[in-house]
Amino acid sequence: MNKWQEMYKQKLASAEEIVKQIPSGSVCATPCALGEAVGLAQALAERAEREGLTGITHHMLLTLKNLKYLEPGMENKMKHVAWFTSGFARKAVQEGRADFMPCYYKDVPMLWRELVEADVFYATVSPMDKHGWFSFGVSASTGRAQMSRAKKVFLEVNENMPRTHGSQFVHISEVDAVFENNVPLAELGEAPITEKDQIIGNYIADLIPDGATIQLGIGGVPNAVGQALKTKKDLGIHSEMFTEGMVDLIESGAVNNSKKNIHRYKAVAAFAAGSKRMYDFLDDNPGVEFHSIDYVNDPNVIGLHDNFVSINATLEVDLIGQACSESIGPKQFSGTGGQVDFVRGAGLSKGGKSFITTYSTAKNDTISKIKPMLTEGSHVTCTKNDIDYVVTEYGVAKLKGKTASQRAKELIAIAHPNFREELTFAAKKMNLIV
Ligand code: COA
Repeated sequence: MNKWQEMYKQKLASAEEIVKQIPSGSVCATPCALGEAVGLAQALAERAEREGLTGITHHMLLTLKNLKYLEPGMENKMKHVAWFTSGFARKAVQEGRADFMPCYYKDVPMLWRELVEADVFYATVSPMDKHGWFSFGVSASTGRAQMSRAKKVFLEVNENMPRTHGSQFVHISEVDAVFENNVPLAELGEAPITEKDQIIGNYIADLIPDGATIQLGIGGVPNAVGQALKTKKDLGIHSEMFTEGMVDLIESGAVNNSKKNIHRYKAVAAFAAGSKRMYDFLDDNPGVEFHSIDYVNDPNVIGLHDNFVSINATLEVDLIGQACSESIGPKQFSGTGGQVDFVRGAGLSKGGKSFITTYSTAKNDTISKIKPMLTEGSHVTCTKNDIDYVVTEYGVAKLKGKTASQRAKELIAIAHPNFREELTFAAKKMNLIV
């Protein structure tokens, strides 16, 4: 047993022993998605309830498990602060039982280093190597920054967490205690590709040249684009999220990263969530590098790639080109995530393009998602000055470089036919169209 293995043994503890060290009022931070220390967070919530702890906050982006802290009645004991609201946390956030942190994903490390201070950092990591290092696995985006000022650092070691390559590791000498918990990683069911997704995906794929570097968001349209890209050549990946479809693109040979100006021959991402097949693909795979989000999502880094193409979804677009991608009216639905980071990065890339996608309607064609004005209370995600292309199943609107009047006409042309007349009427009333 070497020095680091000895140290590991000395720091091994049970979840209960660890959470006993977390008092009322602690600010706790954990990495996004699968990096959450699920066993420790659950044990802490149970202790908070059992022993009457109060005022603990649990900060993270994109919870992927329904843990106890999300239950009604936990809000004064252990409150979730969502930096991006997932389906699991949505109800708690919308009911005010959980709080929300507005942010660009690229800024999250800066916020933890400079403005928000964690008392406790806990994370799920892959098993330690012989040199004493744990990999942040498929959740590399924020961990190092969250732990930078934490008073206590606890790791939840899970042999199911892939050991990923790149730059995000933590050393046993930096850690207060280690808890082993080999639970299966949460898996995201792949969003089914609908007929509309297929149509939108094909419009976008037609505008992506061979040799482009791509970022795909989550959902049916990005999956459809992924499918449609299988016939392309020499594509590259630089994406905050590594998606299921990217495994297919690499295995089919469409992605080889050979034309990237930086990280040539490597796919780059900050986190991943998908199936066990994807986790097995990423384990010890030197073809995929995971880096911190302030690097991956830095528009200046994204802009170093030629022909960068970003594809993300939205909930509503107004006639000047503002996109609300994170709330329905004032109700928080998700978060800004990296959408703006990538729209801006693609804007800095030579030959770059960014696509914001949406179905033309919601709720069985009763609501147009292209609106004269955003619904009152909507949170603007992409501003009119950043947005480039908007795509629905009725076509592609290129907004960048277009006037207000041209934008209104372009957007009305890709709205659902049932709503075009009333949108034109509203645009005239607003003097956007004469
Ligand atoms: N008015 C009212 N309801 C609306 C609506 C609108 N304008 N737009 C959508 N909805 C409803 C839908 O009908 C659907 O309801 P249902 O679940 O009852 O069917 C629900 O809201 C979700 O809409 P949908 O279009 O299916 O959302 P999605 O799951 O595809 O997610 C975003 C889309 C925009 C929320 C998501 O991509 C996101 O959060 N993006 C921002 C962050 C980002 O892009 N990050 C970078 C990539 S990781």
